[in-house]
Amino acid sequence: MTILKITTLIALSSSLLLASPPTKKEMELVSVIKNGNRGSQLLLKTLGKNMKKSMKSGGVMKALNFCSNEAYTLTQKVNKKLPNGVTVKRISNKFRSPANKPQDNEQAVLESFKKMQSLNIVLPPYLIEKTGAHTYKYYKPLVIKKGVCLKCHGDIKDIDLKREIASRYPLDNALGYKMQDLRGAVVVTVDKSIK
Ligand code: HEC
Repeated sequence: MTILKITTLIALSSSLLLASPPTKKEMELVSVIKNGNRGSQLLLKTLGKNMKKSMKSGGVMKALNFCSNEAYTLTQKVNKKLPNGVTVKRISNKFRSPANKPQDNEQAVLESFKKMQSLNIVLPPYLIEKTGAHTYKYYKPLVIKKGVCLKCHGDIKDIDLKREIASRYPLDNALGYKMQDLRGAVVVTVDKSIK
């Protein structure tokens, strides 16, 4: 296709989009995506920043203390900052904390992310599940991209750390990960019927 044809097509399709104003449903979806982006970013930034701080000041054991004692409370704090009807959490099909066990369709969504990865499909930045007339779940896939994650989720060499994790999480599943593995997802639940 020539460049000219492509530009004409783009212009045509955008004018078609402009011709029909977005429906209420479409507007609602745009708002869900905005809330999802904001909520997931806020959680990941807050947890990441604090973990880095404890790792720097006291090494991996202090960072473990942080994750174990404060990740949950910090998540609740982030939730207080989000608009009414919006909450955020982390899930994993190989969860360490039972609090992060997938609920309802969350397991199936994680499996579909895994399936996509196995087919070399580039993961989308997010997926939206419609859970009711005006309720949604926004899923952001979490892939291990930093070596530091493997300190506590990889094949742990540090015996003391290994022992400490096992004593805090006797049913731990969140070990043995490699770079680029799907670790889980951030889920933002958005209820648009709440104002
Ligand atoms: C210092 C150890 C440590 C490091 C480093 C670490 N984690 Fe974790 N991670 C934990 C602990 C402990 C939990 C359980 C937290 C809880 O009890 O809420 C956890 C939980 C999680 C969860 C929630 C699901 C679950 O298994 O309970 C995700 C997702 C996660 N980590 C991803 C990551 C990623 C991505 C990185 C790298 C950026 C990372 N972690 C680095 C210790 C660590």
